[in-house]
Amino acid sequence: MKLKKAIDHKIFEIVSEAAAELNQQVFVVGGYVRDFLLKDEKKKDIDFVTVGSGIELAKRVHSKMEGASKLSVFKRYGTAMFVWEDTELEFVGARRESYSEDSRKPFVEDGSLEDDQKRRDFTINALAIAVNKENFGELLDPFGGISDLKNKIIRTPLSPDITYSDDPLRMMRAIRFAAQLNFTIEENSFQSIIKNAERIEIVSKERVMDEFQKIMMTDKPSVGLKLLDDAGLMKFILPELVALKGIEEMEGQTHKDNFYHTLEVVDNISPNTDNIWLRWAALLHDIGKAPTKRYDKNIGWTFHSHEFVGSKMVYKIFKRLKLPMGQAMKYVQKIVMLSSRPIALIDENVTDAALRRLLFDAGEDIEDLFTLCKADITTKNERKQFRFKKNFNLVEQKLKEVEQRDRIRDFQPPVSGDEIMETFGIGPGKEIGIIKSAIKEAILEGEIKNERESALNYMFELGKKLYLTPKLKRSDL
Ligand code: CTP
Repeated sequence: MKLKKAIDHKIFEIVSEAAAELNQQVFVVGGYVRDFLLKDEKKKDIDFVTVGSGIELAKRVHSKMEGASKLSVFKRYGTAMFVWEDTELEFVGARRESYSEDSRKPFVEDGSLEDDQKRRDFTINALAIAVNKENFGELLDPFGGISDLKNKIIRTPLSPDITYSDDPLRMMRAIRFAAQLNFTIEENSFQSIIKNAERIEIVSKERVMDEFQKIMMTDKPSVGLKLLDDAGLMKFILPELVALKGIEEMEGQTHKDNFYHTLEVVDNISPNTDNIWLRWAALLHDIGKAPTKRYDKNIGWTFHSHEFVGSKMVYKIFKRLKLPMGQAMKYVQKIVMLSSRPIALIDENVTDAALRRLLFDAGEDIEDLFTLCKADITTKNERKQFRFKKNFNLVEQKLKEVEQRDRIRDFQPPVSGDEIMETFGIGPGKEIGIIKSAIKEAILEGEIKNERESALNYMFELGKKLYLTPKLKRSDL
């Protein structure tokens, strides 16, 4: 098969020329070939493999590409890369593994193209296209990658036990590709993953989470998440999620399976957001339900303060998985913490104060919170579904009205700490905090308006109650 169309770009001409000068064979491999065949898409990162030195070839190509980024060389891996225009080019020398008799550890030496192809993760990633003049565009497919692409199968070029033990991250990659491309993992491969799942523990968290995040960003994350669980990998990554599995019965009363419910919620939210952290909030919104589950004779199953416990768990999970601990973690914590609040406001007689409090607590994340709450409706009863959504829309409408009037969403204290100190001639101390929070409370409760004039009047009243003698008059402010 000729695939000239895949490589009809200046880049490949230059690479071809450089390879000819060094008298080396060179091929494009991996994702670039796969995505071209699958989606007619030309990826912006291209992997080249050459029979000979990858670093030398990279240097030669680099010298021919004006405006390229600095060449990065990784001697230990025999690779080198740089960016040219908007494309990342990576070069590696073809390698093969040999086993010496007295050691089980393989050593790597130069090899042929096929040696290199068989050491790759999957047949669909082991396809190569020749770039040299004499065979420009020729497809090399010794492991049946084309047929696997057609049949939508993830298969390892070698026996799966070997491929996965070479790099256990590939177990995650198999699932990620299956989920992303809607492929099936070949049965022996899947069995091998189940058998070797524990070895995921030797892979760095960063690499594991890279794949996990790609699964989270697929159109229907439950596919990959469920595969992770079926393969026995999930319990090494998120045991807290696995703990949500199962339905218990007491005195004829059951609760829902919160694991499958969670997967549905993540699927429901995905068409509505590409914000990976909102998807994470969906994944973790019920995480506190396993440790808080109780059975009460009078009320049935309860999960008291699971949102609070859950938000504490978010911290531990993010830390363990080396996810970003700053804004992203705090955002997920906040959404998990507030996840049951909107439902409590569905009551017809909800007070403006309760609405203001939610606006205050959620701030700019109020819409995201509602996106989660709507995704959390997983009832199969269409009438109920319709009613729940309508109720949330009503609450949202009420919140809009309150917000228009009181502007609580990005609440700024109408009186500053400095002004309080100046007014009463006091230094920093607990009174300042008391006054500030009393003003905020009065606004949220609707006792005073969210405006400076009312807040100043209220501050003077508070001063009296605290036996503070004002040093300034109301008219001075
Ligand atoms: N590869 C491998 N084993 C790994 C990672 C990568 O064999 N653990 C090989 C595969 O041949 C892969 C190529 O290296 O195609 C490039 O890897 P990478 O850039 O991570 O993935 P892509 O296949 O390009 O796909 P994506 O960009 O979707 O990650």
